Amino acid sequence: MTDSSRDTPEGAGWGSAERGDYRDLMPQRTEKLSWLSPRTLWSARNGVLASWFGDPTGRTRERWVAQRAAAGAPADKVIRRTDPDRFSFLVIGDTGEGDDPQYAVVPGLLKEGADTRFAVLASDVIYPVGSADDYGTKFFRPYRDYRAPVYAIPGNHDWYEDLAGFMRVFCDDAPPLPPAPAPRALTRSWLRSLLWHRPRPDDGARLDEARKLRADAAQQAEQPGPYWAIDAGPVRIVGIDTGLLGTVDAAQGAWLREVSAGSRPKILVTGSPLYVDGEHRPCPIEGGGTVDDVVRDPAHHYVAAIGGDIHNYQRYPVDVDGRTVQYVVAGGGGAFMHATHTIPRVSVAGVTEDDFRSYPLRGDSLAFYSALYGRRLRLRRLFTLTQDEATAVIAERLGIRTGRAPGTGARVTRRTRLVAGLLGTARRPERRKRFRLPVRRIYTQLFSPSSATYSPPFFKSFLRLDVTPEAVRLRCCAATGNRAQEVDPPVEDEVTIPLV
Ligand SMILES: [Fe+2]
Repeated sequence: MTDSSRDTPEGAGWGSAERGDYRDLMPQRTEKLSWLSPRTLWSARNGVLASWFGDPTGRTRERWVAQRAAAGAPADKVIRRTDPDRFSFLVIGDTGEGDDPQYAVVPGLLKEGADTRFAVLASDVIYPVGSADDYGTKFFRPYRDYRAPVYAIPGNHDWYEDLAGFMRVFCDDAPPLPPAPAPRALTRSWLRSLLWHRPRPDDGARLDEARKLRADAAQQAEQPGPYWAIDAGPVRIVGIDTGLLGTVDAAQGAWLREVSAGSRPKILVTGSPLYVDGEHRPCPIEGGGTVDDVVRDPAHHYVAAIGGDIHNYQRYPVDVDGRTVQYVVAGGGGAFMHATHTIPRVSVAGVTEDDFRSYPLRGDSLAFYSALYGRRLRLRRLFTLTQDEATAVIAERLGIRTGRAPGTGARVTRRTRLVAGLLGTARRPERRKRFRLPVRRIYTQLFSPSSATYSPPFFKSFLRLDVTPEAVRLRCCAATGNRAQEVDPPVEDEVTIPLV
């Protein structure tokens, strides 16, 4: 097995490694998605509008579900597969940027996924706004050689055009919804509808051509709607749709409680992870209760809850009344990397640093961002930290034993402390924060990885789950963009979850 980032810096993809073959899979020209461009920001405005003027997602989702029901989709929204008792599947989160980091995941994914029965895309299938015409370069092309069905749940980005592209691709070519009745003038929803971003009238003209890339019978999948359950072998996988703002509508909440009943072991897949960045985010259900209440209920037999949305890997094994539920963040499947060095020393729901896992390691995340900001601010000599310097300063600031020991001779200096602080590195709880550069939240909006970051290591990842009647083995496999990790993707984390 190849070294992982926990073993050596080379395992993390640092050093003068040879680049992998993933670029051969890419289209000749890719449009670099710039999150800074006014056009991108303006077209992705519906999330902001929903938080200002009320969120119409729940109502729109109900209309989609009604349309699917009228077309004959099963009322319980359960996909009944005929997988054997022992089988494997993939989970890939936040894929669709269509650039180097997304394609860099593909060779390892094809290798690890060769014997898997299906894959699940966990939210944000298409950036920036889920347009049907983006599915060619951001879905069909990258996964054209994956020989099994792909199911998906939408993320907030897929909702920026009312989910129309997602519904066409994953739900049997669902036709556009008829226009909603016009809201009363001068109300909040009227104002919202005036400003609302909608798909271009000709969106999807290129979709038929793109579909030819995954036209094999073995690759076809059909979903009853944006949320669903899959009965596969001994487990039930439950996929929910948390829309624009990370919430669940009442009708979906009622369905979730229904499909969660019973003794079959369950795995939740969501676009809003329930434990993330050292915090518990239980995800409210309209009308009362939370998604995490459903997961924790012993009558429901959940063993894991996997969420996209945040573009890295994190795992929190939480003790729930004597059972361990694995809460996983798995959004590292393609889009730019979210920092892990901003995660404070973990202490949540009984989970401590000793039990917590992340990929990238915090030191690698800090080294990655220090190089990125060094380039952006044209202060490379001041900013850029080696992975050893970054790891050493992380160990000091958080007071933790790092996943990989810093190399001998890595010193913590005033410069490395300053850079770590400016880049938002978490501190021990007893030492509170000062000024930080916007690394995580604002990063998405203001800074896009410039062309200079379209070179390895990318710190991308996907999950492989091996199911038997007795246990589920969950592994986080890494993709760096280098050949060594393409040929043999390192396992960054592995846990076996007993089912009996
Ligand atoms: Fe995302």
